[in-house]
Amino acid sequence: MKEGNLLLDIKDLHVHYQVYGGKTKVIDGIDFQVEAGKKIGLVGESGCGKTTMVRSVMQVLPTQARIPKGEVFFDGDALLKISKRDLNRVRGQKMSMIFQDPTASLNPVFTIGSQIEDTIRYSGMVKGNDKKVIHEKAIQALKDCSMPDPERLLKCYPFELSGGMRQRVCIAMALATASKLMIADEPTTNLDVTIQDQVLRLIRQLCEKKNMSLILITHSLGVARMMTDWIYVMYAGQIVEKAVTSRIFEHPYHPYTVGLMESIPKLTGEGIMEGISGKLPNYLNPPKGCRFQDRCKKVMEKCRNCKPRLFPVEENHQVACFLYERGRAEDPEVSHE
Ligand SMILES: Nc1ncnc2c1ncn2[C@@H]1O[C@H](COP(=O)(O)OP(=O)(O)OP(=O)(O)O)[C@@H](O)[C@H]1O
Ligand SMILES: [Mg+2]
Repeated sequence: MKEGNLLLDIKDLHVHYQVYGGKTKVIDGIDFQVEAGKKIGLVGESGCGKTTMVRSVMQVLPTQARIPKGEVFFDGDALLKISKRDLNRVRGQKMSMIFQDPTASLNPVFTIGSQIEDTIRYSGMVKGNDKKVIHEKAIQALKDCSMPDPERLLKCYPFELSGGMRQRVCIAMALATASKLMIADEPTTNLDVTIQDQVLRLIRQLCEKKNMSLILITHSLGVARMMTDWIYVMYAGQIVEKAVTSRIFEHPYHPYTVGLMESIPKLTGEGIMEGISGKLPNYLNPPKGCRFQDRCKKVMEKCRNCKPRLFPVEENHQVACFLYERGRAEDPEVSHE
């Protein structure tokens, strides 16, 4: 990726949680880049740290979390170092997040209108906080999300809306202020399949219209394939593979990615393949070396002692696995063709 185009650059990020019994070392040295205008998919099994990573970017981690090491550069600002005031400006005007549990981010005792208008007001995007202009922007945000009768909707309370409508309101709120980066953490969980598709299309269209970058967290590889330009695969707090979307589906390299792809039910009648047995390591005491070692069929001595960095295997394709330390390995069992 060209440095000049980088919008977000996460360097060697570590995140720990203080829990009963010690400290869980969840995020372990992540590097992650987003170019301006690009859509990135972040995939990996439940508990691997996807939400923790994006919450670190937004600086909305739970109180038990600590960032002992790492840097997050976003559009010229070092987010882990700037003042609270500057951070609020960045969050208000340049990036927003659609949270994994959308309904939890709406306050049940305030109308939709007061919540969207407050978001716009606190972002500082309207000079002098002119009420009329703020109201118009709220209406426009709902219209952009194809919501019918926005004037009436602004007067409703969250409980008066269906789950799909509430999710659209959250998207509208996020899109009303964000101009450079949208982070969508499983934006369609708990939505009816027909609405899922609409919501995803909407996010994609609006990002394209504003030339905004997107980080999309999803459990569905099909959705990631449809929506994104690049995919990052995460395992136990580490990025194990990153590539241009079309390439990773054509040729996954990391044994974990290969397993993930094999767990997709095939329509060819083969049924669900065995997938990946075992479970994530204990974050209180994670193994030295590669965190996937205990589940990996290709594990080598080196994997037990050293942590693999990302090795290039092709143009725009990197894999954190010692099988590819010297480039593309010609191992027929690993290659997925
Ligand atoms: N507030 C917290 N306190 C302590 N540990 C936490 C907290 N939030 C998350 N964790 C731990 O961090 C790890 C990663 O969680 P995270 O929610 O980031 O994963 P995820 O990849 O988003 O999972 P999912 O796909 O289920 O949303 C898990 O082991 C989780 O238990
Ligand atoms: Mg999550």
